[in-house]
Amino acid sequence: MNSLIELSIISLLFLRATKCLDSPGPFNNYYTIPFYYGARTDERNVKTVIMNDEPSLFFWSYNYNVDYRNNLWVADKQQSTIFYISKEQATWNAIFKVSGTDGVTGDRDGNIAKATFNHPSSICVYDANTTRILQSDNLKPVLLNNPPSDFCKKSITMDNYQECGVLVDESLEMVTMNHSLIKYVPFIELTKEQKNFSYSNTEPRKVYIADKMNHCIRRLDVSKAEVSTFAGICGKAGFKDGLLGQNMLTRPELVGVDAHGIIFIYDAGNNYIRMIDKDGYMHTLIQGACKEDPNTIPPKIPFQLKLRAMICYKTWIKTSGQPDSHLIGTGVTKNTECLDDHYVNCKNIQPRPLIMEKNFTVIQFNNKRDL
Ligand SMILES: *[C@@H]1O[C@H](CO)[C@@H](O)[C@H](O)[C@H]1NC(C)=O
Ligand SMILES: *[C@@H]1O[C@H](CO)[C@@H](O)[C@H](O)[C@H]1NC(C)=O
Ligand SMILES: *[C@@H]1O[C@H](CO)[C@@H](O)[C@H](O)[C@H]1NC(C)=O
Ligand SMILES: *[C@@H]1O[C@H](CO)[C@@H](O)[C@H](O)[C@H]1NC(C)=O
Repeated sequence: MNSLIELSIISLLFLRATKCLDSPGPFNNYYTIPFYYGARTDERNVKTVIMNDEPSLFFWSYNYNVDYRNNLWVADKQQSTIFYISKEQATWNAIFKVSGTDGVTGDRDGNIAKATFNHPSSICVYDANTTRILQSDNLKPVLLNNPPSDFCKKSITMDNYQECGVLVDESLEMVTMNHSLIKYVPFIELTKEQKNFSYSNTEPRKVYIADKMNHCIRRLDVSKAEVSTFAGICGKAGFKDGLLGQNMLTRPELVGVDAHGIIFIYDAGNNYIRMIDKDGYMHTLIQGACKEDPNTIPPKIPFQLKLRAMICYKTWIKTSGQPDSHLIGTGVTKNTECLDDHYVNCKNIQPRPLIMEKNFTVIQFNNKRDL
Protein backbone atom coordinates (compact mmCIF):
# COMPACT_ATOMS: atom_id res chain seq x y z
CA MET A 1 0.00 0.00 0.00
CA ASN A 2 2.72 2.37 1.04
CA SER A 3 4.77 1.65 -2.01
CA LEU A 4 1.72 2.18 -4.20
CA ILE A 5 1.28 5.65 -2.80
CA GLU A 6 4.94 6.27 -3.22
CA LEU A 7 4.79 5.14 -6.79
CA SER A 8 1.91 7.41 -7.63
CA ILE A 9 3.64 10.34 -6.01
CA ILE A 10 6.71 9.62 -8.04
CA SER A 11 4.80 9.37 -11.29
CA LEU A 12 2.87 12.51 -10.49
CA LEU A 13 6.07 14.28 -9.76
CA PHE A 14 7.66 12.90 -12.83
CA LEU A 15 4.88 14.26 -15.02
CA ARG A 16 5.05 17.57 -13.29
CA ALA A 17 8.80 17.75 -13.45
CA THR A 18 8.89 16.85 -17.12
CA LYS A 19 6.34 19.50 -17.84
CA CYS A 20 8.17 22.25 -16.03
CA LEU A 21 11.69 21.57 -17.20
CA ASP A 22 13.27 23.46 -20.04
CA SER A 23 13.80 22.02 -23.45
CA PRO A 24 17.60 21.77 -23.86
CA GLY A 25 17.22 18.42 -22.19
CA PRO A 26 18.31 18.21 -18.57
CA PHE A 27 18.03 14.46 -18.79
CA ASN A 28 20.79 14.56 -21.31
CA ASN A 29 24.27 14.40 -19.78
CA TYR A 30 25.69 16.59 -22.46
CA TYR A 31 23.25 19.41 -22.65
CA THR A 32 24.96 22.73 -22.38
CA ILE A 33 24.21 25.82 -20.41
CA PRO A 34 25.58 29.29 -20.98
CA PHE A 35 29.22 29.85 -20.07
CA TYR A 36 29.59 26.18 -19.69
CA TYR A 37 32.74 26.47 -21.66
CA GLY A 38 34.29 29.80 -20.91
CA ALA A 39 36.78 31.72 -22.95
CA ARG A 40 40.19 32.69 -21.55
CA THR A 41 41.52 29.19 -21.45
CA ASP A 42 45.00 30.60 -21.87
CA GLU A 43 44.81 32.69 -18.72
CA ARG A 44 43.39 29.80 -16.80
CA ASN A 45 46.31 27.67 -17.78
CA VAL A 46 48.81 30.02 -16.13
CA LYS A 47 50.20 28.74 -12.86
CA THR A 48 50.09 32.14 -11.14
CA VAL A 49 46.36 32.37 -11.83
CA ILE A 50 45.75 28.86 -10.56
CA MET A 51 47.77 29.50 -7.44
CA ASN A 52 46.59 32.99 -6.59
CA ASP A 53 43.08 33.42 -7.75
CA GLU A 54 40.17 32.57 -5.53
CA PRO A 55 37.82 30.10 -7.11
CA SER A 56 34.19 29.75 -6.18
CA LEU A 57 32.65 26.36 -6.65
CA PHE A 58 28.93 25.86 -6.92
CA PHE A 59 26.21 23.99 -8.77
CA TRP A 60 23.57 25.41 -10.97
CA SER A 61 20.86 24.27 -13.25
CA TYR A 62 17.58 25.29 -14.77
CA ASN A 63 14.50 24.70 -12.64
CA TYR A 64 15.78 22.53 -9.82
CA ASN A 65 18.46 22.22 -7.19
CA VAL A 66 19.04 20.41 -3.91
CA ASP A 67 19.64 21.65 -0.42
CA TYR A 68 22.16 20.06 1.92
CA ARG A 69 19.59 17.56 3.10
CA ASN A 70 19.07 16.50 -0.49
CA ASN A 71 15.54 17.83 -0.71
CA LEU A 72 14.76 18.72 -4.29
CA TRP A 73 13.64 22.31 -4.88
CA VAL A 74 11.85 23.17 -8.08
CA ALA A 75 11.05 26.50 -9.72
CA ASP A 76 8.06 25.81 -11.92
CA LYS A 77 8.48 28.32 -14.69
CA GLN A 78 5.17 27.66 -16.38
CA GLN A 79 3.09 27.95 -13.23
CA SER A 80 5.26 30.60 -11.54
CA THR A 81 5.44 28.59 -8.35
CA ILE A 82 8.10 27.17 -6.06
CA PHE A 83 7.80 23.72 -4.60
CA TYR A 84 9.98 21.12 -3.04
CA ILE A 85 10.10 17.39 -2.82
CA SER A 86 11.10 16.10 0.53
CA LYS A 87 13.85 13.55 0.84
CA GLU A 88 13.60 13.51 4.59
CA GLN A 89 12.54 10.34 6.30
CA ALA A 90 9.29 11.53 7.85
CA THR A 91 7.92 13.00 4.64
CA TRP A 92 9.80 11.07 2.01
CA ASN A 93 8.83 12.09 -1.53
CA ALA A 94 6.00 14.34 -0.43
CA ILE A 95 5.66 17.41 -2.60
CA PHE A 96 5.27 20.71 -0.78
CA LYS A 97 4.06 23.77 -2.57
CA VAL A 98 6.17 26.48 -0.99
CA SER A 99 5.19 29.72 -2.64
CA GLY A 100 3.39 31.25 -5.61
CA THR A 101 -0.05 30.56 -7.02
CA ASP A 102 -0.48 28.35 -10.07
CA GLY A 103 -0.63 30.46 -13.19
CA VAL A 104 -0.61 33.78 -11.35
CA THR A 105 2.31 36.05 -12.20
CA GLY A 106 3.45 39.01 -10.15
CA ASP A 107 6.25 40.32 -7.97
CA ARG A 108 4.64 40.49 -4.57
CA ASP A 109 7.04 40.10 -1.64
CA GLY A 110 6.09 39.11 1.88
CA ASN A 111 4.66 35.96 3.40
CA ILE A 112 5.31 32.88 1.27
CA ALA A 113 1.58 32.17 1.04
CA LYS A 114 0.97 35.47 -0.75
CA ALA A 115 4.18 36.00 -2.71
CA THR A 116 4.05 35.83 -6.51
CA PHE A 117 6.66 35.19 -9.19
CA ASN A 118 6.92 35.62 -12.94
CA HIS A 119 8.40 32.62 -14.72
CA PRO A 120 11.08 31.69 -12.18
CA SER A 121 13.68 29.68 -14.07
CA SER A 122 16.31 28.62 -11.56
CA ILE A 123 16.71 28.05 -7.86
CA CYS A 124 19.46 27.41 -5.33
CA VAL A 125 19.63 26.89 -1.59
CA TYR A 126 22.10 28.27 0.89
CA ASP A 127 22.56 27.18 4.46
CA ALA A 128 25.24 28.98 6.41
CA ASN A 129 25.57 26.03 8.77
CA THR A 130 27.58 23.48 6.92
CA THR A 131 31.10 22.20 7.16
CA ARG A 132 31.54 23.01 3.49
CA ILE A 133 32.15 26.57 4.52
CA LEU A 134 35.19 25.58 6.50
CA GLN A 135 36.37 23.49 3.63
CA SER A 136 35.96 26.20 1.04
CA ASP A 137 38.30 28.49 2.97
CA ASN A 138 41.09 26.04 2.51
CA LEU A 139 41.09 25.01 -1.11
CA LYS A 140 44.40 24.18 -2.72
CA PRO A 141 44.91 23.35 -6.39
CA VAL A 142 46.07 19.87 -7.29
CA LEU A 143 47.13 19.07 -10.85
CA LEU A 144 45.61 15.68 -11.55
CA ASN A 145 47.30 12.99 -13.56
CA ASN A 146 45.90 12.79 -17.07
CA PRO A 147 43.36 11.29 -17.50
CA PRO A 148 41.97 11.77 -14.00
CA SER A 149 40.35 8.71 -12.51
CA ASP A 150 36.83 8.78 -11.12
CA PHE A 151 38.33 7.96 -7.74
CA CYS A 152 40.39 11.13 -7.85
CA LYS A 153 37.52 13.29 -9.00
CA LYS A 154 35.33 11.96 -6.24
CA SER A 155 37.42 10.98 -3.28
CA ILE A 156 40.59 13.03 -3.38
CA THR A 157 41.53 14.56 -0.02
CA MET A 158 44.51 16.31 1.51
CA ASP A 159 45.66 12.90 2.74
CA ASN A 160 45.57 10.94 -0.47
CA TYR A 161 46.17 13.57 -3.17
CA GLN A 162 49.64 12.21 -3.98
CA GLU A 163 47.98 9.20 -5.58
CA CYS A 164 46.10 11.55 -7.88
CA GLY A 165 48.53 14.28 -8.84
CA VAL A 166 50.76 17.06 -7.55
CA LEU A 167 50.09 20.15 -5.49
CA VAL A 168 50.42 23.35 -7.49
CA ASP A 169 52.84 25.52 -5.53
CA GLU A 170 56.11 27.43 -5.94
CA SER A 171 58.09 24.23 -6.21
CA LEU A 172 56.21 23.09 -9.28
CA GLU A 173 58.31 24.27 -12.19
CA MET A 174 55.62 24.81 -14.76
CA VAL A 175 54.58 28.21 -16.06
CA THR A 176 51.45 26.89 -17.70
CA MET A 177 49.42 23.79 -17.07
CA ASN A 178 46.18 22.29 -18.30
CA HIS A 179 43.51 23.93 -16.20
CA SER A 180 41.04 21.15 -17.00
CA LEU A 181 43.17 18.92 -14.80
CA ILE A 182 43.05 21.20 -11.76
CA LYS A 183 41.03 20.00 -8.83
CA TYR A 184 40.61 22.28 -5.82
CA VAL A 185 40.91 20.15 -2.70
CA PRO A 186 40.07 21.30 0.84
CA PHE A 187 43.16 21.11 3.01
CA ILE A 188 41.64 20.98 6.43
CA GLU A 189 41.15 18.55 9.29
CA LEU A 190 37.59 18.72 10.53
CA THR A 191 36.93 18.07 14.19
CA LYS A 192 34.58 15.26 15.18
CA GLU A 193 31.86 17.79 15.94
CA GLN A 194 32.29 19.48 12.59
CA LYS A 195 32.03 16.16 10.82
CA ASN A 196 29.05 15.19 12.90
CA PHE A 197 27.23 18.36 12.01
CA SER A 198 23.47 18.29 12.32
CA TYR A 199 20.85 20.92 11.62
CA SER A 200 18.76 22.74 14.16
CA ASN A 201 15.13 23.63 13.62
CA THR A 202 16.00 27.26 13.17
CA GLU A 203 18.52 26.68 10.44
CA PRO A 204 19.16 29.83 8.44
CA ARG A 205 18.26 28.23 5.13
CA LYS A 206 17.79 30.68 2.26
CA VAL A 207 16.44 29.89 -1.17
CA TYR A 208 17.40 32.12 -4.09
CA ILE A 209 15.17 32.23 -7.13
CA ALA A 210 15.97 33.63 -10.58
CA ASP A 211 12.65 35.35 -11.22
CA LYS A 212 13.29 35.63 -14.90
CA MET A 213 10.44 37.69 -16.28
CA ASN A 214 10.52 40.01 -13.27
CA HIS A 215 14.21 40.74 -14.00
CA CYS A 216 15.15 40.16 -10.39
CA ILE A 217 16.40 37.61 -7.86
CA ARG A 218 14.06 36.79 -5.03
CA ARG A 219 15.06 35.29 -1.71
CA LEU A 220 12.93 32.97 0.32
CA ASP A 221 13.84 32.84 3.98
CA VAL A 222 12.72 29.42 5.13
CA SER A 223 12.66 30.06 8.88
CA LYS A 224 10.74 33.32 8.51
CA ALA A 225 8.48 32.00 5.71
CA GLU A 226 9.09 35.19 3.82
CA VAL A 227 9.97 36.22 0.28
CA SER A 228 11.93 39.36 -0.48
CA THR A 229 13.65 40.92 -3.45
CA PHE A 230 17.36 40.25 -3.26
CA ALA A 231 18.77 41.73 -6.47
CA GLY A 232 17.60 43.67 -9.48
CA ILE A 233 14.46 45.76 -9.59
CA CYS A 234 11.41 43.58 -10.09
CA GLY A 235 9.51 44.63 -13.17
CA LYS A 236 12.36 46.69 -14.60
CA ALA A 237 15.03 45.38 -16.96
CA GLY A 238 18.49 46.94 -17.02
CA PHE A 239 22.21 46.53 -16.57
CA LYS A 240 23.80 48.10 -13.52
CA ASP A 241 26.15 47.08 -10.77
CA GLY A 242 25.90 48.16 -7.16
CA LEU A 243 23.77 47.51 -4.13
CA LEU A 244 20.16 46.41 -4.01
CA GLY A 245 18.03 49.22 -5.36
CA GLN A 246 20.74 50.29 -7.80
CA ASN A 247 21.64 47.03 -9.42
CA MET A 248 19.71 45.79 -12.42
CA LEU A 249 19.34 42.59 -14.38
CA THR A 250 17.64 41.56 -17.58
CA ARG A 251 15.94 38.17 -17.62
CA PRO A 252 18.21 36.41 -15.10
CA GLU A 253 18.07 32.72 -15.94
CA LEU A 254 20.33 30.85 -13.58
CA VAL A 255 21.29 31.33 -9.98
CA GLY A 256 23.90 29.52 -7.91
CA VAL A 257 25.50 30.02 -4.52
CA ASP A 258 28.94 29.07 -3.26
CA ALA A 259 29.78 27.83 0.23
CA HIS A 260 30.32 31.39 1.44
CA GLY A 261 26.94 32.60 0.32
CA ILE A 262 28.24 34.48 -2.73
CA ILE A 263 25.59 34.45 -5.44
CA PHE A 264 26.24 33.89 -9.15
CA ILE A 265 23.62 34.80 -11.71
CA TYR A 266 23.50 34.14 -15.41
CA ASP A 267 22.03 37.43 -16.58
CA ALA A 268 20.72 36.18 -19.91
CA GLY A 269 19.46 39.52 -21.24
CA ASN A 270 22.86 41.13 -20.75
CA ASN A 271 24.84 37.99 -21.51
CA TYR A 272 27.11 38.25 -18.48
CA ILE A 273 27.52 36.40 -15.23
CA ARG A 274 26.83 38.70 -12.32
CA MET A 275 28.14 38.12 -8.83
CA ILE A 276 26.73 39.40 -5.55
CA ASP A 277 29.28 39.48 -2.78
CA LYS A 278 28.44 39.06 0.88
CA ASP A 279 27.92 42.80 1.30
CA GLY A 280 25.16 42.66 -1.28
CA TYR A 281 27.17 44.49 -3.95
CA MET A 282 26.61 43.26 -7.48
CA HIS A 283 29.59 42.96 -9.82
CA THR A 284 29.79 41.85 -13.42
CA LEU A 285 32.29 39.13 -14.22
CA ILE A 286 34.22 39.23 -17.46
CA GLN A 287 33.20 36.60 -19.94
CA GLY A 288 35.08 33.41 -19.37
CA ALA A 289 35.43 33.97 -15.62
CA CYS A 290 33.19 30.95 -15.10
CA LYS A 291 33.59 27.51 -16.49
CA GLU A 292 32.30 24.06 -15.92
CA ASP A 293 34.39 22.27 -13.32
CA PRO A 294 35.07 18.95 -15.01
CA ASN A 295 36.61 17.45 -11.88
CA THR A 296 33.72 17.88 -9.51
CA ILE A 297 31.14 15.18 -9.55
CA PRO A 298 27.76 16.73 -8.74
CA PRO A 299 25.61 15.20 -6.01
CA LYS A 300 23.24 12.50 -7.12
CA ILE A 301 19.79 13.95 -7.26
CA PRO A 302 16.45 12.28 -7.90
CA PHE A 303 15.00 11.47 -11.30
CA GLN A 304 18.38 11.48 -12.98
CA LEU A 305 18.37 15.24 -13.16
CA LYS A 306 21.79 16.70 -13.47
CA LEU A 307 23.39 19.64 -11.73
CA ARG A 308 26.30 21.45 -13.32
CA ALA A 309 29.44 21.99 -11.27
CA MET A 310 30.79 25.46 -11.98
CA ILE A 311 34.00 27.22 -11.12
CA CYS A 312 34.26 31.01 -11.20
CA TYR A 313 37.20 33.28 -10.53
CA LYS A 314 35.82 36.01 -8.34
CA THR A 315 38.55 38.53 -9.11
CA TRP A 316 37.80 38.53 -12.84
CA ILE A 317 35.55 41.53 -12.51
CA LYS A 318 34.61 43.76 -15.38
CA THR A 319 35.96 47.28 -14.90
CA SER A 320 35.28 49.04 -18.17
CA GLY A 321 32.35 49.40 -20.54
CA GLN A 322 28.88 48.65 -19.41
CA PRO A 323 27.57 48.51 -16.80
CA ASP A 324 30.26 50.57 -15.05
CA SER A 325 29.11 53.60 -16.93
CA HIS A 326 25.73 52.77 -15.43
CA LEU A 327 24.09 53.67 -18.67
CA ILE A 328 22.05 51.49 -20.89
CA GLY A 329 22.13 51.54 -24.67
CA THR A 330 24.22 54.70 -24.95
CA GLY A 331 26.23 53.42 -27.85
CA VAL A 332 29.23 52.32 -25.83
CA THR A 333 31.33 50.78 -28.56
CA LYS A 334 32.78 47.34 -28.61
CA ASN A 335 36.19 48.92 -28.40
CA THR A 336 35.77 50.09 -24.81
CA GLU A 337 34.54 46.63 -24.01
CA CYS A 338 37.52 45.08 -25.63
CA LEU A 339 39.71 44.94 -22.58
CA ASP A 340 37.20 43.06 -20.59
CA ASP A 341 35.67 40.81 -23.15
CA HIS A 342 38.71 39.09 -24.49
CA TYR A 343 42.06 40.19 -25.73
CA VAL A 344 41.28 39.76 -29.38
CA ASN A 345 41.13 42.93 -31.51
CA CYS A 346 42.41 45.14 -28.75
CA LYS A 347 44.85 46.72 -31.20
CA ASN A 348 47.31 48.78 -29.19
CA ILE A 349 45.25 48.94 -26.02
CA GLN A 350 47.10 47.15 -23.24
CA PRO A 351 45.09 44.28 -21.83
CA ARG A 352 44.20 44.68 -18.21
CA PRO A 353 45.93 42.06 -16.08
CA LEU A 354 43.46 39.63 -14.71
CA ILE A 355 45.02 39.40 -11.32
CA MET A 356 46.82 41.90 -9.15
CA GLU A 357 50.12 40.18 -9.60
CA LYS A 358 53.17 42.15 -10.67
CA ASN A 359 54.75 39.25 -12.42
CA PHE A 360 51.75 38.22 -14.42
CA THR A 361 52.54 37.72 -18.06
CA VAL A 362 49.83 38.05 -20.62
CA ILE A 363 49.59 35.07 -22.86
CA GLN A 364 49.24 35.71 -26.56
CA PHE A 365 45.81 34.84 -27.82
CA ASN A 366 44.87 33.14 -31.03
CA ASN A 367 42.88 35.36 -33.26
CA LYS A 368 39.62 33.73 -32.27
CA ARG A 369 37.59 33.37 -29.18
CA ASP A 370 39.31 30.71 -27.16
CA LEU A 371 36.53 28.33 -26.38
C1 LIG B 1 23.93 28.32 12.35
O1 LIG B 1 24.53 29.56 11.98
C2 LIG B 1 24.18 30.64 12.80
C3 LIG B 1 24.84 31.85 12.24
O2 LIG B 1 24.64 31.93 10.85
C4 LIG B 1 24.59 30.35 14.24
O3 LIG B 1 24.18 31.43 15.06
C5 LIG B 1 23.96 29.06 14.72
O4 LIG B 1 24.41 28.74 16.00
C6 LIG B 1 24.27 27.93 13.78
N1 LIG B 1 23.54 26.73 14.15
C7 LIG B 1 24.11 25.54 14.25
C8 LIG B 1 23.21 24.42 14.62
O5 LIG B 1 25.29 25.36 14.03
C1 LIG C 1 43.63 18.99 -20.92
O1 LIG C 1 43.03 17.97 -20.17
C2 LIG C 1 41.78 17.55 -20.66
C3 LIG C 1 41.19 16.56 -19.66
O2 LIG C 1 41.97 15.43 -19.54
C4 LIG C 1 41.94 16.97 -22.06
O3 LIG C 1 40.69 16.60 -22.57
C5 LIG C 1 42.56 18.02 -22.96
O4 LIG C 1 42.82 17.46 -24.21
C6 LIG C 1 43.87 18.53 -22.34
N1 LIG C 1 44.35 19.63 -23.16
C7 LIG C 1 45.64 19.70 -23.51
C8 LIG C 1 45.99 20.90 -24.36
O5 LIG C 1 46.45 18.87 -23.19
C1 LIG D 1 26.91 12.69 16.52
O1 LIG D 1 25.55 13.13 16.62
C2 LIG D 1 24.67 12.17 17.16
C3 LIG D 1 23.25 12.72 17.14
O2 LIG D 1 23.18 14.01 16.67
C4 LIG D 1 25.11 11.81 18.58
O3 LIG D 1 24.26 10.80 19.09
C5 LIG D 1 26.55 11.30 18.54
O4 LIG D 1 26.99 11.07 19.86
C6 LIG D 1 27.46 12.33 17.88
N1 LIG D 1 28.81 11.78 17.74
C7 LIG D 1 29.90 12.49 18.01
C8 LIG D 1 31.20 11.80 17.80
O5 LIG D 1 29.86 13.65 18.42
C1 LIG E 1 59.11 37.75 -10.84
O1 LIG E 1 59.69 36.91 -11.78
C2 LIG E 1 61.13 36.89 -11.69
C3 LIG E 1 61.66 36.05 -12.87
O2 LIG E 1 60.73 35.14 -13.34
C4 LIG E 1 61.52 36.30 -10.34
O3 LIG E 1 62.93 36.30 -10.21
C5 LIG E 1 60.91 37.14 -9.24
O4 LIG E 1 61.17 36.57 -7.97
C6 LIG E 1 59.41 37.26 -9.42
N1 LIG E 1 58.83 38.17 -8.44
C7 LIG E 1 57.75 37.88 -7.74
C8 LIG E 1 57.27 38.95 -6.81
O5 LIG E 1 57.15 36.82 -7.82
